[in-house]
This record gives sequence, structure tokens and C-alpha cells, in this order.
Amino acid sequence: MAASSKALIPETLTGNEDWTIVLPRHGKQRRNSPRIITPKEQQKPWCPSEIESDPHRESMLFQRMLNCIKKMESSQFYQNFVDQIQTPEVNMQMVIYGIGSIELYEPPRLQLSLAILMKRKFSWVGDIEVFDPILSATEARVLEALGCSVLSVNEQGRRCAMKPTLFFMPHCEAELYNNLLQANWGVMLKHMVVFGNSFEMYHQHVTEFKSSTIVNTAKHVLAVRRFSNEFGIDVISDDYFAAFHDSGWHFFNPDLGIELQLI
Ligand SMILES: C[S@@+](CC[C@H](N)C(=O)[O-])C[C@H]1O[C@@H](n2cnc3c(N)ncnc32)[C@H](O)[C@@H]1O
Repeated sequence: MAASSKALIPETLTGNEDWTIVLPRHGKQRRNSPRIITPKEQQKPWCPSEIESDPHRESMLFQRMLNCIKKMESSQFYQNFVDQIQTPEVNMQMVIYGIGSIELYEPPRLQLSLAILMKRKFSWVGDIEVFDPILSATEARVLEALGCSVLSVNEQGRRCAMKPTLFFMPHCEAELYNNLLQANWGVMLKHMVVFGNSFEMYHQHVTEFKSSTIVNTAKHVLAVRRFSNEFGIDVISDDYFAAFHDSGWHFFNPDLGIELQLI
């Protein structure tokens, strides 16, 4: 894959016979569909701490999200972002982990707007599933009104990519990326793309500051650099800095002939 203006999504993911091609199921909620998880995973049922959604807050937040989506869609940031994406030959479901509170903060609203616009613009983007343990019932209702499914289980980021999956994980903790990579370590890395923090920067941090925390909690993040390509995105304006700085795409090319080493 060339690091050109058309750097993203496609080439590493095309022509892969191992993949099941899944057609998008627009508008269908998939809360109860089976998901494959690693045996190590401790799936924990989850429900928002606030028992009921507040209808007033819900309609305010829904309107706020619509405004944010509009703002994002007309921005130069978004134009550059979509120009960088080349259409893959497979459909991909999207899993959003760690979106944060869309009611309290603007960066999560901008991040969610970008994900929703991707689904609207690209027919190859399938259903969107979202999970963050801090979501309130009001936020969960608004997410569903926007066409997303909110998971009722905390997967700890350990979803196995049995089918092509775009993991949208803006500014998550290193541990969450690590859980995801660990769960898919090996051939399944080929089935996934991650949008999130720069893994290269974690590596630089370890090299420069000898951060033992990252070394201990993000072994797979550090090791995957040898089997992956990273493409940063252009943030362009200050409006989008908080939501997207140091973010980019990760594509994986595991060498299937050898067991992937962690060091
Ligand atoms: C550093 S914050 C980023 C929030 C937001 N994306 C932003 O940029 O402001 C990381 C987020 O990951 C969420 N998180 C923690 N554990 C998680 C899990 N098991 N699954 C999904 N999200 C999780 C946290 O609740 C938090 O909202």
C-alpha cells in the first residue's frame, strides 16, 4: 500500500479469500447477534448507571449531534479525510469502542459524527456497534436514534474479527488497543482495520522515555508495528485537533508462515 493520497482501507483488504463478505444490513439493530470472543475474555453484561433516558436531554442531544454532523460534513477536515479513503472490495462492519461521553464533550461528538458520515457516504460500511462503559441511558438512546447499536456487554475490546471489521477507536487507552490485537493475534489481523492512536508514537514514547507502563500493558501494540502499516490523518484546523490529533489508520499484514513474535 502506498502512502499516497489514496492510502486507506483498500489494498490490504482486497482479494482475501478467507473473508466472508457481509452485506450491510441498514437500519437493523443487532444487539442480540452472536459475537465471537476469545476464551480469555471476561464478558461482562453492561447497562448504563442511569436507569432511564431523559426525553428532554435526549432531544437536545440528538439535535446537537445533527448540528455536529452538519458541521463535520461541510469541513475541509472531512473532505481531506474522505479523499484519503480508497474503496475496498469488501463490506466492513464498524465497531466503535471508547467514544466517550457525547453529551458532555465535543471531541466524542466530532468522532461519532465522522463515523456516522463514513457510513452514510460509503456503501461498504455496514452496521455500527458502539460501546463505552461510561455511556448514559440518554446517550445510548441517541446513539440508537442515529442508527447505531449499543452493545449490552463490555467486551473489553476483545472482539474477534471473524469478518471484515473496521474498529473505530479514537483516542482510546493503549490497553484497549492491546486487548483487541491480542484477541486477533495471528491470521485474524488480516480481517481488521483500526482507526485510532498512532502506534508509532507509543513506540517512540517507549524508546525516548523507557515507559515501562506501556511496555507492560501494550506488548501487542508495540509488536504489531512489524506487521502493520500506519497512515496518519491530517487534522488541518484547530477545531478538529482535540478529537483527532495523532490519529490514523492501521492495516495489518501478518506473516502467516511464522508465529507472530511479541518481541
Ligand atoms: C481517553 S478516553 C477517550 C474518549 C474519547 N474518544 C475522546 O477522545 O475524548 C477513553 C475511553 O475509553 C473508554 N473505555 C474504557 N474501557 C472500555 C471498554 N472496555 N470498551 C470500550 N470503551 C472503553 C473510556 O470509558 C473512555 O471514555
